[in-house]
Amino acid sequence: MMKLFTSKSITTDYLNCLKEKGLTIGFVPTMGALHEGHLDLVNRSKRENELTVCSIFVNPIQFNNAEDLAKYPRTLERDTMMLEAAGCDLVFSPETAEMYPQGEPVKFNLEFGLLDKVMEGKFRPGHFNGVAIVVKKFFDIIQPTRAYFGKKDFQQLAIIKFMAETLELPVKIIPCETVREADGLAMSSRNMRLTIAERNLALGIYQTLLKVREQAGNIPVRELKAWAIKKIQEIRGMQVEYFEIADKDSLVPIKDWNNKERAVAFAAVFLGDVRLIDNIELFS
Ligand code: PAF
Repeated sequence: MMKLFTSKSITTDYLNCLKEKGLTIGFVPTMGALHEGHLDLVNRSKRENELTVCSIFVNPIQFNNAEDLAKYPRTLERDTMMLEAAGCDLVFSPETAEMYPQGEPVKFNLEFGLLDKVMEGKFRPGHFNGVAIVVKKFFDIIQPTRAYFGKKDFQQLAIIKFMAETLELPVKIIPCETVREADGLAMSSRNMRLTIAERNLALGIYQTLLKVREQAGNIPVRELKAWAIKKIQEIRGMQVEYFEIADKDSLVPIKDWNNKERAVAFAAVFLGDVRLIDNIELFS
């Protein structure tokens, strides 16, 4: 029977007992509105650990836009049913006051350099500060052996890897491939907010990324980026926020193909008022 806890201390005490018995804990952090992508992380955690813990918490401090926070889908009952069916052992689903009893914290005490300044960091100020604060809190509460993060949020993964390495946290960060719909659209909780017509148009982002991968190395980086932006903007209702080609670890934008095996293309696009992101590793 899956446990559902809302209290930090009960969660920590319960998991501590099991850790003392030598059990390994896999952790999948989520904001709910679960889809196959999340279940893929849960399945991987189940294969690699004796216990799997999921958090469901819509973290207010990582939203830089109040409307986006208000519209974020909340489907707790459905989510817990999905997790139980997937064989998750424990769900930690706290209220905001449980996570932030002293009010919302301001600044995470770690300098991320460029990692939180480009792309998502540039267009969503404060977003990664909020992600880092909440993920570090989850790590403290759950003390997982391994934590699973999807490559769909590639920059988030880079931030978490950097945090775990720099602070020498006793958790192994496991990057997991993006799970896509049959036609290629990256799974995302935000897809729920698309109309059927928008849902079909949204695929254009991944199709453009695939074409960019085909041409990578043949066309100068600057021209390829300009081509991709134009291509996406031609799709009805789409507004590109950024399209970047950057190094997979430092996230420094690349100017030529000298270290092409490290290149990843990133896109953030508004379709109506829904913001979608996707990325593709260009040479692997
Ligand atoms: O990727 C997400 O869903 C969130 O950013 C995370 C990691 C659960 C932190 O709130």
